[in-house]
Amino acid sequence: MHSLSSTFYVAAWLATMALLLLSLRLRRRRNPLNRPPGPKPWPIIGNLNLMGPLPHRSIHDLSQKYGEIMQLKFGSRNVVVGSSAEIAKILLKTQDLNFACRPKTAAGKYTTYNYSDMTWSPYGPYWRQARKMCLVVLFSAKRLESYEYIRVEETNALLKSLFEANGNEIRLKDLLSTVTLNVISRMVLGKRYLDESEDSIVSPDEFRKMLDELFLLNGVFNIGDFIPWTGFMDLQGYVKRMKVVSKKFDRFLEHVLDEHNARRIAEGEKFVARDMVDLLMQVADDPDLDVKIERNGVKAFTQDLLAAGTESSATTIEWAISEILKKPEIFQKATEELDRVIGKNSWVQEKDLPNLPYIRAIATEAMRLHPVAPMLVPRRTREDCKVAGYDITEGTQVFVNIWSSMRDPKSWDQPEDFCPERFIGKEVDIKGHDFRLIPFGAGRRMCPGYSLALKLIEGTLANLLHGFNWKLPGTMTKDDLNMEETFGLSTPRKVPLVIEARPRLPLDVYRF
Ligand code: HEM
Repeated sequence: MHSLSSTFYVAAWLATMALLLLSLRLRRRRNPLNRPPGPKPWPIIGNLNLMGPLPHRSIHDLSQKYGEIMQLKFGSRNVVVGSSAEIAKILLKTQDLNFACRPKTAAGKYTTYNYSDMTWSPYGPYWRQARKMCLVVLFSAKRLESYEYIRVEETNALLKSLFEANGNEIRLKDLLSTVTLNVISRMVLGKRYLDESEDSIVSPDEFRKMLDELFLLNGVFNIGDFIPWTGFMDLQGYVKRMKVVSKKFDRFLEHVLDEHNARRIAEGEKFVARDMVDLLMQVADDPDLDVKIERNGVKAFTQDLLAAGTESSATTIEWAISEILKKPEIFQKATEELDRVIGKNSWVQEKDLPNLPYIRAIATEAMRLHPVAPMLVPRRTREDCKVAGYDITEGTQVFVNIWSSMRDPKSWDQPEDFCPERFIGKEVDIKGHDFRLIPFGAGRRMCPGYSLALKLIEGTLANLLHGFNWKLPGTMTKDDLNMEETFGLSTPRKVPLVIEARPRLPLDVYRF
């Protein structure tokens, strides 16, 4: 009797579910979703076959056909791409809250302690608290100012090593990432850690390789993210590499945290926070915190700052110098401004930057044509919504292709041309208000490190142009210079820039 009645209940439950599903399907058929236009997906792979080695360019080409908002399918995942300033404004401003989440990816899981950092953590109280801490404690104007002496010392070290290279060939990116890595590690970790001369546990070279690998793996299209049932096979071998690189970072970060802890214990009551790790550990100890930050969280935030801060600024400066080598008249205009405003007997200081509009215009133009994150960092919709009349369902992965919108002929004259003059005499906002120009993103998830990045990029670029004449090696001409990109979370030059630098100021100025 008992089993008969349970069979009845199960059958009734199944019948109700079937009716519900049927009515849902009928309703959908009567009111089908009005999805954005896009190419027809293949079974299983969706549109992944349309992605080339530079996905932002493949997606750009598709958007030329399907429009400023389009829908793709990556495996079983719905993907929506916005490619114009107008759509970017809807996604990142009008409906920002609904697009403020990040998709779950293997990179977030395996390289950031299971989404414990800021970049990959989903929208919610943990992320909100991290963001507040970042803006109020770590990147306040006062704190950034207090670290200016570090930026000055490290820039001087770069200028000195360029002077000592004495016109010989150098790989510019290596020198630039040494400066940015040293600045960021001194601000975040309290010392260089990675200096050859110190008792470091990772050599600078090895650490740079780790950062490159981390960046690449955070930007790749990992098939397992889109076709989840293939995940366990790790078809491209990316997950294995993620585990390896994150183990290397963990060893380094454990060492950093142990050292910081030891100083705290040794100094007891007299302890004063000196760097960002000290500050993070102090915040993590606060018993009134809304959401607890564990040791893994401190490690994940530290790694976030090191990675995001190092690669991005160095890549942008390398692009700016490459573009100037293609157009020597820009170098001439820049040095005219520098000689007039700064003079030939001193270096550029941060307080001079507002008086150097042409230098600022070069940096801005480099970020327009070579955005570090050409499709921002992917977002994920929190609820079903409508954008420009189209239905976007909850859980859709969203890209804002700023590589497209920042080259859109509707917004820019001769968009492919590197032309800093386009910004001269105009109030230009690069901090998330003018949606034609958003290299740092916009809205709630906008880059929190933009003020530091701008100081680093403009300050270093100004001094590189002020202090040196730049030349391509040997008989190489500007037409031989390869301007191809390679893909990762940042978009650096495919071939690193090799270059010669000769001093252009009186020799006394180079004595640091
Ligand atoms: C040229 C320099 C830089 C550029 C172009 C850049 C660009 C970006 C972009 C486009 C995003 C994603 C924004 C979005 O989803 O809307 C981002 C996020 C982020 N950036 Fe930057 N960034 C730069 C430098 C820095 C620096 C120096 C730091 C810190 C030291 C930093 C820390 C971060 C963090 C933590 C996030 C994640 C924010 C979140 O998800 O809430 N960035 N950045």
